[in-house]
Formats: sequence, structure tokens, C-alpha cells
Amino acid sequence: MKEAQPKTTHLKEYEVPPFLIEETELRVELDEEQTHVKTSLKMKRNPDAKKGKLPLVLDGGELDLKEISIDGRLLLSNEYSLDDEHLTLFDVPQQFVLETSVAIKPQENTSLEGLYKSGDMFCTQCEAEGFRNITYYLDRPDVMSRYRTTIVADKSLYPVLLSNGNDVARGESEGGKHWVTWEDPFKKPAYLFALVAGDLQHIEDEFTTCSGRSITLKIYTEPANANKLDHAMTSLKNAMAWDEQVYGREYDLDIFMIVAVESFNMGAMENKGLNIFNTSCVLARADTTTDRGYQRVEGVVAHEYFHNWSGNRVTCRDWFQLSLKEGFTVFRDQRFSADMGSATVCRLEDVAFLRSAQFPEDAGPMAHPIRPDSYIEINNFYTTTVYEKGAEVVRMIHTLLGPERFRQGTDLYFDRHDGQAVTTDDFVTAMEDANGVDLRQFRNWYSQAGTPLLNVSSEYDEDAQSYTLKVIQSCQATPGQEHKEPFHLPFSVGLLDSAGKDFALNTEDAHVSSMSQDGTHCSAVLNLTESEQQFTFTDVEARPVPSLLRNFSAPVKLEYDYSRDELMFLMSYDSDGFNRWEAGQRLAVDVIQEVVGQIQSAQPVSVDGRLIKACQAIVDQSIDHHQDGKIDKAMIAAMLVMPGEAYLAELSAVADVEAIHSAREQVRLAIATDLKGSLLSVYKLNLSDKPYEPTGVDIAQRALKNVCLAYLMLPEKSEMVNLCQSQFDNSNNMTDVDAALRALVNAADEKALEPKEKALTEFYNKWVHEPLVLDQWFSIQAVCPLPGTLEKVTALLGHEAYDTKVPNRVRALVAAFASQNTINFHHSSGDGYRFLADQVIRMDPSNPLLAARILGPLSRWRKYDEARQRLMRGELERILSVDDLSKDVYEIASKSV
Ligand code: TRP
Ligand code: ZN
Repeated sequence: MKEAQPKTTHLKEYEVPPFLIEETELRVELDEEQTHVKTSLKMKRNPDAKKGKLPLVLDGGELDLKEISIDGRLLLSNEYSLDDEHLTLFDVPQQFVLETSVAIKPQENTSLEGLYKSGDMFCTQCEAEGFRNITYYLDRPDVMSRYRTTIVADKSLYPVLLSNGNDVARGESEGGKHWVTWEDPFKKPAYLFALVAGDLQHIEDEFTTCSGRSITLKIYTEPANANKLDHAMTSLKNAMAWDEQVYGREYDLDIFMIVAVESFNMGAMENKGLNIFNTSCVLARADTTTDRGYQRVEGVVAHEYFHNWSGNRVTCRDWFQLSLKEGFTVFRDQRFSADMGSATVCRLEDVAFLRSAQFPEDAGPMAHPIRPDSYIEINNFYTTTVYEKGAEVVRMIHTLLGPERFRQGTDLYFDRHDGQAVTTDDFVTAMEDANGVDLRQFRNWYSQAGTPLLNVSSEYDEDAQSYTLKVIQSCQATPGQEHKEPFHLPFSVGLLDSAGKDFALNTEDAHVSSMSQDGTHCSAVLNLTESEQQFTFTDVEARPVPSLLRNFSAPVKLEYDYSRDELMFLMSYDSDGFNRWEAGQRLAVDVIQEVVGQIQSAQPVSVDGRLIKACQAIVDQSIDHHQDGKIDKAMIAAMLVMPGEAYLAELSAVADVEAIHSAREQVRLAIATDLKGSLLSVYKLNLSDKPYEPTGVDIAQRALKNVCLAYLMLPEKSEMVNLCQSQFDNSNNMTDVDAALRALVNAADEKALEPKEKALTEFYNKWVHEPLVLDQWFSIQAVCPLPGTLEKVTALLGHEAYDTKVPNRVRALVAAFASQNTINFHHSSGDGYRFLADQVIRMDPSNPLLAARILGPLSRWRKYDEARQRLMRGELERILSVDDLSKDVYEIASKSV
């Protein structure tokens, strides 16, 4: 970056907007050559702003200004000035109507921010700062306005014209054009504006709200995908009902629309009344979409719908407050998904994701609090910290208050701030005011980055029959934050007796925020507030095994010196499902780390038989209870999956990529070899030829079967290759086809070589016209851990189906390789790093947001050995030496190097 350093925006410099926009009238004349946007803004000076005659500074990206007038009078060129990012009017009255006319070229917009073309249709993405690429505006979320939008376009090419709110008028005009006017009765910030024009088909349904209003629901797509919309519609109706039941939130407009677009930088966008979705988050059909895909559609449809209250009706004052809407809405969608399926499995998947993606971010150069203090490019702060850790912070409030008081808090929050743009602090204050609690210390979660560490030790006093837990909390330094204040967090614990039952908990401790006891389950939620704290339980008749941090009650790392026998005990008996899984993960981590040590010191590898025994017990359970419904197969499947390489790396001081990969593989092979017979029985027991349904029970059964298949394919045995191939050939659903194809592609066995090539070719030919399935085809190959994958991935860049214009495709190949294929990305040659840097440099001029996002893995260099550190930083330096780097890539690379 040879130019002046890009500007940093700071939270502490926030000021209220000097002007307000009461009404916004847009006329968008869409055209293949030049699109014209005519804007009329009814503006006034903000009575709350600093006094004095401030100039009016409007945001604007690459706009070609054609005309500008105030109160109907055309301005002369000396009455305003233009630079790359602003239009400044030196002298404006107290109140006025500002009219501008600009020309833009959406067909050339490759950044996918603002108005652009995805395939043949026009669409928009305005969050965070895309609206300024459409017209001059006060493009900040605390400027809220009422919108009236007229879209004009060729009628045969663009029969469907959509925007926010209700369509209030339509007509035809000369030259084969038509127009539609939309009016949104709710004030909104510009980032929630949306417009779509295309030759679209839709499905339609209806939802009757709790107050009896009937809402029209429409989901739009290009015609080829119209047969993949039913699952999204079902999910939407479930989400609408859930938000009424759980939060008392009713939908407000008479129509709710979703549009699926192929070229989209992120998952989906909550534009008022007109959500725009990446096709990957809305389309689902049994033969093209995996169970994961179905679950993702359900979760994202709900997430965007829930934003209507947590985000739209109550929005963010500024972008530092992003977690106000995102953390809260992720928490809401997590709870929704938990209610729709297996709650424990949802929870452990969310935690596994947090630990493998957010913990490394929090330990790296880009670490930031869930409410960041500063940014160069806001697009870089749509992070797992703001989203997933933000959700954990809201969840902790929920745990500390309990569901009823949490609900009183959200009721007050929505009621008090409806129609406003507010801060995370306002959210916490509403929780306090509704319940008379003090969350002052809890606010540290919003201002301090880093993952706290809890070091726990225990003492049993047999004479006094008392049991004491001592907790020391600490948090590592993060950029700009050397010293941390202690966090306030809910620490949920239970104590197991020797039969595996929960002790009834007795304590005098004033720090217990709640005690729950139902049936054989007993937990206490302890308030941790100090850097060192002790909790004593009385009437404990024998030394218990502690179950700590139940349901992962806080986003922390927990150290406790469990023996492997204690972990096996917890795996079988803990009444907390999450901790049963967690005990298994700890045992596996322990055993894998032992093998890592053996590999590093060139000792013979031996896998502790207790881990295999524990897996045997889980497998046996699933055979014994195959039919009686007493087991959750999703849980069994999850418990058989070994902790991932990313998490194992995160747990190491210096991650030895090769040893971790090899140790994990050897442990898996040992399990597969010893349990072969049982795994095959479970596999066969769970085969099914009933028609595909995405129900919890069926998804669980497929998951369990496919976990077994993956194990069965590890030892070198051709009969399993045949089994796998037969699953690939004969399945009626993509979940099973995908699992079989992955297992074939990942098989090291020579016997698999031919079947794998054949399967890949067949799969490609069959699905060549289904972009989302082709993404899978690319990504299955990109994440293959076998040697030589980088060469394959590099070759695939030149494949006729590879297309850098569609972010899904780039993510499927480049990002999947860099972020999921640990062993190949971190190859000691540095070829993986160079590959990623090349792709970032190539991508940056056309789509900076995407380029910056795929860069992430290179910034995690601190975890690796010196040679790799040097190689990774070298690539970051090389990126930084490129001329005209975007703000997006510049910020990540310069802060990481
Ligand atoms: N608000 C979107 C969400 O619900 C995030 C989003 C979608 C986004 N598209 C974007 C953010 C483009 C930045 C740029 O999570
Ligand atoms: Zn969101």
C-alpha cells in the first residue's frame, strides 16, 4: 500500500449525526448500460447536534453525479465539493429538500456491495456501507428514514421488481418498461434498504400471527431453483411462531419476502421485509442438499427473520455496536435450532465451532472485544468474536438471570428502544432495570478481548464432609490490552457421587445465582467475579467427581486435573449432556496429545486402551438401544468424532501440525481397527431405504451411520471400499452420497484410487448444472488430507467450472483448503501459504471483502514453529507490498504481520 495509510475510525469519537433525513424517495431506473438513481431527501439539521453551521457531508462511493439541487434550485459547481468518498455542501438551510441524480454501473460492480448483478438479476447488499455506492446519503445506522422507492426496468427481462415494505403502485411506461413503487412504513437505516429485479419465480404461503393478522410469505428464486424452496418456507413459519412464543415478538408488515441470489458475499441479509439470501442458505432438496445444508437453511432463515426485532425495529447506533444485533440474534437462532432438534448436539456443535474458530481469533493479532474500539474497514469486524462470542455473552446473561427474568429484560429492551438506534450498553441496562440487578462488572465482556482461563482445583474434607472448589481466573494479554480486569461469569457445576448420581447441593455461599434440581439432576450456577474464589459445599458424603462448566456456561478455557478414569466416568454418568460429550473430548485430547509426544520423541505409538473402551461402550449402547428410542443417535455420533485438528492446534503452545495430524489419524485407526465388527453392525443397523426426511431422528440416524462409514474406511480393506461405493451409487439423498464420496476421496488405500476418480467424475457429470452441488465437489477435493492436494487444488483453479465471480465457489475451493485442510495448507514448503497469498492478491481488486475474509488463516502464524512463522509472515509482507491494496486486505495484513 503505497498511499497514505487508510483512516481508522474510533468508538470514542462518536458524535450524533449533524443532519437527519425524514423522508427518502428513490427512483431507480435500471439499465444494462447506465442505471440512474434519482434521490429526494427531506432533511433537517439535528436539534441534538453541536450548534453552529456545519456543512452537510454526504457519503458516496463511485457515483457519477449528474445533477444536484436544494429546494428545487440547481446548485452551481462552487456550492459543493466532491472527493472519492464524499459530497460536501457548504451552506444549507435549517430544513430543505436535497435532490441528486447519479449514474452507476451495477453490471461492473464485482465487489457485491451496493447495487450489482448476480447472474441476470439486479440485487443489492447495503450492510454495512453499501448504500453509499447507490446514492449520496448519510450512510450510518443512526440516521433512520422512511423510504419510498420506485423501480423502473425492462418488463420482459425484469418482470419482478421488489423493494422494502408494501407495493403501493405500478404501471407501464414507454419502451417496454414497467415500474413498481414500494413504501416502507417503518423508519430504517440505509443498510436495511434492498432492491431486487429479475425474472423470478416464487412460492407463496401465509402465516397468521398471534393477534390474528395474516402475513403473506413469498420466497423468490431464478426458475431453475423453484423446486428447492419448501424447506425454507417451513423454517420461516417455524421461526415466526417461535419468536411469538419465546419472545412475544409479532411480525409487523403484511408481507415478508426472501430472495435467493447466487453471488453473495455472506450468508444472508435481513433487509426490512425483503431478506436477501445466498442460495446456499435457502435452497434445499433431498437429492442436492445434505442434512447440514438443511440445518443451515433452517438456522439462517430464522436468524434473518429474528433480526426484524433484534436489528431492525431496534438497530445499532454505530458499527461498534454490531454485536448488539448479531450476538443477540445468533443466540436467538441457536436457541431456536436447539428447540427444533437435539438441543445438546446443537450446543456442542456451537461450542466446537467457537473453540476452533473464535478462540484462535481471540488469541491472535486481530483479537478484539465483542464491541471493538476501532476499525479501518468495518467489513473486517463481521467476525466469530462479534457473532459467536457475542452470542455467548448474551447466553451468560440468560444463564445468570434465568429464562423468566431474561424475558422481562428483552421485553423492556424492545419496548424502551423500539424505533431507535442504540448501544450494547442500552441492552445491558435494560436487563438491569427490568430485574434490579447490577451488571457493571459483567460489562467487561464488551470491552475486553481474549479468552479467560479458569484454573480449578478441589479439596474434599472427609471429616467435615465438605467439598471446596477453588477457581483462579486469568486472561492473556491481547493487542492494546495488557492487563485485564476479572470477568463476571456464570460457572455452572454439579457433583457426582460414586454411583454417578448428582449430589443434592448445599452451600452457604452467597455467590450462588441459582440452583436447579429436577429428578436426578442438580446443578448450581456460581457467580465468578474475582480473580481467585472458593466455593464450599456441605453434606457431601464422599469425594465427588465434579462436573464443571456445565452446558459450557461461559466462553472460557477450563483447566482441571481430571484423571482418565474420572473422564470415562463422566462420559457415562454426567446428567449434563454437554459435559458427557466434553468428558469424551477431554479424554480424546489427552490421549491424542500423548501420542503427539510419542511421535515427537520418536517413540513407538501406543493408544491408551481406555479411549477405545470408552468408544466401545458408546457403540454398544447404540446397538443395545437401536430400536427403543432411549438413545440420541446424534449424540452417539458426536461422541464418536475425535476433536478436530484446529482445536488440537489451539490447545498446543506451538502447534506441531504434522504430529497432530498423524496422532489423530493413528488414534482413529486404532478405534476403527479394534471396533471394526461393532462399527459395521451399527452401520448396517442404521441403513434405511425410506424416503428422505430432514427430521431430527432421521438426521441422527444418518449421522451415526456415516460416522461409522468414515471409520470403516480407515483400515486398508477393499470390502469397505465396495460398501462405500455402493452407498455412493444407491442412496436417495445427498447426505449419504456426500459421506460416501468424502470417504472415498479421503481413502489412502490404493484400491480406492480408481473408484474415487470414477465417483468424482460421475458426481460432476450428474450435477454440472447445480452450482451448490458443484461447490461441494470442489470442496470435498480441497479438504482432502492426502498428500498432493495442493497440486489438485491449483489445477482446479483452471477448471472450466471455477469462477472467481461467485464467492461460494471461491470459498469452496480456496477458503476450504486454507481453513480446513490444516496438514496441506501448513506444508513445510510454504507452498500452501504462497497459494493463499496469490489468491488474495488476485481477488483484492475485484472483491476486497472476500479477499480479506479468505486471508484469515495466514494471520494465525503465532501458533506455529519458527520456520512456518517466517514463511507465513513473508506472505503477509508480500501482500502488503502490493500497490493500491484495499482497506479490507490492508487492515488484516498490516495488523497481522
Ligand atoms: N447482517 C448479516 C447477518 O445477518 C450479515 C451480512 C450479510 C453482511 N451480508 C453482508 C455483512 C455483507 C457485511 C457485508 O449476519
Ligand atoms: Zn445477523
